[in-house]
Amino acid sequence: MTDRELLNQALIAREAAYAPYSGYRVGAALLSVNGTVYTGCNMENASYSATLCAERAAFSAAIGAGERAFRAIAIAGGKGRKADEKVAPCGVCRQVMAEFVDADFAVIWGNDQVLERHSLEELLPFAFDRKNLED
Ligand code: THU
Repeated sequence: MTDRELLNQALIAREAAYAPYSGYRVGAALLSVNGTVYTGCNMENASYSATLCAERAAFSAAIGAGERAFRAIAIAGGKGRKADEKVAPCGVCRQVMAEFVDADFAVIWGNDQVLERHSLEELLPFAFDRKNLED
């Protein structure tokens, strides 16, 4: 699966976004090491803090299916109809990713023209993670 193919799946997932308050629609596509893609979209709420980001929705779907190892996540978003912005994941989603991924995990974002690929280490250096809680 290429980065472009994964990002295209995020663009499709974005079409289901529920974002009546911000109008900012996001889709995510998470690739497991087994080659399965799990998608998610953002899901807003009238009680704003109950909003769930697309990335965490994708992780929830994958974890619920029994997956525990991942290669990459692609994210597409923007206001309005077109996913024209480059969406870097929010801090909460970076922390959730850190729970489940290794150093070589790729975070990809972009639109139908361009894409970028980063490591989670670049996005969340000095992470607090499960290693901190080991005996
Ligand atoms: N959002 C995501 O789904 N992922 C991100 O990484 C950034 C923000 C959503 C949450 C909310 O529904 C909307 O974008 C505006 O913050």
